[in-house]
Order: sequence, then structure tokens, then C-alpha cells
Amino acid sequence: MPQHASQAKRTKIAVLVSGGGTNLQALIDAQGSVIKSGEIVIVIASNREAYALERAKKAGIRGVAVPKKEMTQEAFESKIVELLDESGAEIIILAGFLSILSEDFTKRYPRRIINIHPSLIPSFCGQGYYGLKVHEAALARGVKVTGATVHFVNEIPDGGEIILQKAVYINPDDTPESLQLRVMQEAEWKLLPEAAELVSKEIMDSKEQK
Ligand code: GAR
Repeated sequence: MPQHASQAKRTKIAVLVSGGGTNLQALIDAQGSVIKSGEIVIVIASNREAYALERAKKAGIRGVAVPKKEMTQEAFESKIVELLDESGAEIIILAGFLSILSEDFTKRYPRRIINIHPSLIPSFCGQGYYGLKVHEAALARGVKVTGATVHFVNEIPDGGEIILQKAVYINPDDTPESLQLRVMQEAEWKLLPEAAELVSKEIMDSKEQK
């Protein structure tokens, strides 16, 4: 069995982003090392200014903006579905994608959408908990341990099956910003590529058995 799956067999990955895209960068950097069974074929951003689009461009990956604030939720999701179909994506990774997707959308892709969340679910998750707000809430509650979670996405915000989690200790002098950075460095940027490989491999293996 070769170390690297041939290009044709690799699971096609779409990455959905909204902002800076450091998790996208971690996925790009892990291609060919941690991620052997998958390949990013498209990056879709929910706004035109997302720096993640620059990262995709630099890596030679197709990047498309679907600006959410310029359209209805229905139009937004149908454009994303169109792009996913066109690209042949088999899994969808939400990497700092800060728009909630409707049940109509998530039902189309059971166990095919994965999300990274910057806390240990079920703490500090669900509607309203995103980005820095998650770390502010963890510090306000005074927890001593937080972390990151990668999970499958279903119709419940942050409610799908957990794939991987990693804990990160909180320091007494942490600010939301310092905690956010440490959770990314120690947990998110490792966990997301690992989860991408797990799910990509499962899909690739299931295709080989057919
Ligand atoms: C990351 O910390 C990610 O876990 C979080 O947004 C940040 C995006 O950073 N996602 C959520 O809060 C989802 N509920 P990035 O654009 O640099 O990857």
C-alpha cells in the first residue's frame, strides 16, 4: 500500500471560511503529511475580505467568495451547494466559518460536514458562541481547562457527534486574546488536520471496497 494515495482516489475536501483562515493554513500545510487521504479542492469564503482567500490563492487552490450579507440565506446556501457540486467535494470542513447553516443544508451532508470549535464541547458552545466570545466566556466562568473540539455538523449548532478533542490549560494571567492564540497553537491547528485525515481516510477506504 503506497504512503500517499493517488490523486484520483483522495477524498475531495471543501473548506468554508469567514476570516483570517489560520485553520485553513494548518490544513494546507498538513497536505501530504498529516493529510494523506484527502485534498483541498475549493475554499469558499462567506465574505469578500476574508484573508483566507489570499491563503488559498498562495497555495494554488480555487477560492470563491459567496458574500452572505449581499444575499438571502437561501441564495447563500444554494450558491454554496452549486460550488460544492461543481468541485466534487466529498467532505466540507468549516474552518472558522461563522455563519449558521440551515437544517436543509446540513441534512444534505450527513457525517460529511466537520467543524472546529474553540472550547471543550458541551461547554461554551451553541448559538452566539464563536471566535473570541468563546474565550471571554471561559475566562468569565473561571474554568481552569479549555480546549478545542472537532465534530460532525448536524441541525443543532455545535451539537453533532464529537470526532476529536484536546484540552488546554488556562493561565491565571490569560486574556481572551492570549487564550485564543494558545488554543489555536496547542489544539486547533493540530486537531483539525488530524480529523480531516480520519474522515478522508474513512471515505477513501469505503470507495476502495466498492
Ligand atoms: C477559530 O478559533 C475557530 O475555532 C473559531 O473561529 C476561529 C477562526 O480562526 N470558530 C468558531 O468559533 C466556530 N463556532 P481562523 O479563521 O484563523 O481559522
